[in-house]
Amino acid sequence: MIPKETVDEILETSRVEDVVGEYVTLKKRGVNLLGLCPFHNEKTPSFTVSPTKGIYKCFGCGKGGSAVNFLMDHEHYSYPEALKFLANKYNIELEEEELTAEEVQQMNEKESLFIVTQFAAEYFQNQLHQSEEGKAIGLSYFKERGFRQDTIEKFKLGYHPDAWDTFTKTALKKGYNIDFLEKTGLTIVKEDKHFDRFKGRVIFPIQNISGRVIGFGGRTLLADKKIAKYLNSPESDIYHKSKVLYGLNHAKKSIIENDNCFLVEGYTDVISMSQNGVENVVSSSGTSLTVDQIKLIKRYTSNITILFDGDEAGIKAAFRGIDLILTEGLNVKIVSFPESTDPDSFAQSHSNQELIDFLNEAAVDFIRYKTQLLLAAVGDDPIKRAKLIKEIVGSIALIPDPISRSVYLQECSQLMEIDEQSLLSELNKVRRKNISDKAIEVERDHKKEDRGFDPPQVKDFGEKHLNVNDFQEEDLIRTFIKYGSKTIHLPSQSEEEEEKEELTVADFLINEIEADELTFSHPVFSKIYEIYKKSFEEGIQVVENDLVSNKDQQISSLAIEFLLERYSLSLNWEEKHKILTVKEVDILPKKVHKGICSWRLAKVQELIEQNQDLLKDESVDYASIYSVILRLQEAKKALANELGRIILK
Ligand code: CTP
Ligand code: MN
Repeated sequence: MIPKETVDEILETSRVEDVVGEYVTLKKRGVNLLGLCPFHNEKTPSFTVSPTKGIYKCFGCGKGGSAVNFLMDHEHYSYPEALKFLANKYNIELEEEELTAEEVQQMNEKESLFIVTQFAAEYFQNQLHQSEEGKAIGLSYFKERGFRQDTIEKFKLGYHPDAWDTFTKTALKKGYNIDFLEKTGLTIVKEDKHFDRFKGRVIFPIQNISGRVIGFGGRTLLADKKIAKYLNSPESDIYHKSKVLYGLNHAKKSIIENDNCFLVEGYTDVISMSQNGVENVVSSSGTSLTVDQIKLIKRYTSNITILFDGDEAGIKAAFRGIDLILTEGLNVKIVSFPESTDPDSFAQSHSNQELIDFLNEAAVDFIRYKTQLLLAAVGDDPIKRAKLIKEIVGSIALIPDPISRSVYLQECSQLMEIDEQSLLSELNKVRRKNISDKAIEVERDHKKEDRGFDPPQVKDFGEKHLNVNDFQEEDLIRTFIKYGSKTIHLPSQSEEEEEKEELTVADFLINEIEADELTFSHPVFSKIYEIYKKSFEEGIQVVENDLVSNKDQQISSLAIEFLLERYSLSLNWEEKHKILTVKEVDILPKKVHKGICSWRLAKVQELIEQNQDLLKDESVDYASIYSVILRLQEAKKALANELGRIILK
């Protein structure tokens, strides 16, 4: 029990902004602070902290309370645990009573796991620094690897005695329950026998964001190839591998300051880089990188730099990492290390300045990395080259933000010396495929829930009818969905026609399309167009919601996709892309006009090619086909001319 006066003191001293600020990046907004809510997924900050009132509140999900509530909610602390945490943070003394064996047992399960883990961490540290065996074997090993005393303490490194059950015996004697020793994986129970899992290993404790130890990695000191180099704690109620990043508790401040997070492979990479003064470094030890881990990083920065060995396994891991990170909407760079070095050895053998310089110079964005790496293997082989393009465009297609996507596409076009338009159509192909894959997933979910939806025909979506026009078609449909209900005045065509009637974007597009008898070749686009056309004929407006909740999965996923684009644009609007978005609305009439022209141009081009194909057949009437081609080419020129005059600025 903590005495009442102490509780009051703790509550009075605690600053909610300090406590929350350890987990959430807060920016000043007037008297309050604002950040991204850690309790739900959001892109625009709605999580508000009021230092004067001593509370936080999320206007997105409704969570709110004091510093203590935050710790209980976010860290799953019990009330006394939260108080202890705060007392520790603000150096308020607590007369802590030693727990009796009985009390230890009464603790709730999770808390018990924390406690036994904490005990073990201290025990291993003691062994390392105090016992003869620990000093001779463990400590000298760490020293040999170049870890300084302060580093060893900072990372709470330890040593586990080389005996079958010394640790377990000690823990049991202190009153720790065998169940919890087993659940945390510290003890392996076989029949009636107990074995220490980490026997004879040096210990790397794994801490959560707030620094509590939740598991361990143990490295063997034997060179025996048959023994696993590292053993890790098993999953438990307090240790979820996929949701933990090794080193994040130390790194978070530096990640915010540098607005970048270095991602390395192992414990020793984190430790050596941190010791060498590069503290914004974490690793996904014990697992390959997961989405949850990326989301953890996202709380602090949107920039990740992957540091991997240049060997094949490293490259493979880097490729996988790149795509995961891009999908989460973060920026990713890659540093590959010179042969037979890793971040650990490099940091150990170079000065801080050399390390920083190397990281700055060697970091390349993912496109350059993939291109450089793959291009070397590809040479001039056109088929391999095509594969490489697909591979890179595949990554770009994962980026949720359309603006970043197009920036990367430009870069790819320059690097690979390929026309941007061809890349775009490939990109759209991949994106549609991804959407259709998603639709299949959704379909499966629906089937599971048996909501009685019509089964969507996703099969012919994404594969069939893909051709040059797809990009133009997609762009037109996107315009329908994003801007269909917006009113525009189009520049008048002739002198007499003083004022052109006001009309909506959708109406304008339909007029043009019908006048030209243009048809959508892609079934989904065609379906969406029909919806607009029908409502145009009936004189009503298409409501976005009708599309989003359309029974046809393909329609709804496309509508969601395009509307989300608009959403993310208008979000960015408030931030850096202000000018761009304002322009997008300003240039809408031109954009619509251009969309139609581009589509016509693509159609004309397609017709030209079809006619040219006809010429291959010897039995055809050459003259008439030639004249058709000539007329088409005239039309193409005129359209290209017109397009050239529409400048979107
Ligand atoms: N790892 C693991 N189990 C293994 C081998 C590796 O969990 N049997 C994890 C560890 O988190 C390790 C990381 O993968 O830190 C990278 O492995 P590796 O490069 O082999 O180890 P290093 O960190 O370089 O370790 P050391 O320098 O001590 O050899
Ligand atoms: Mn290593």
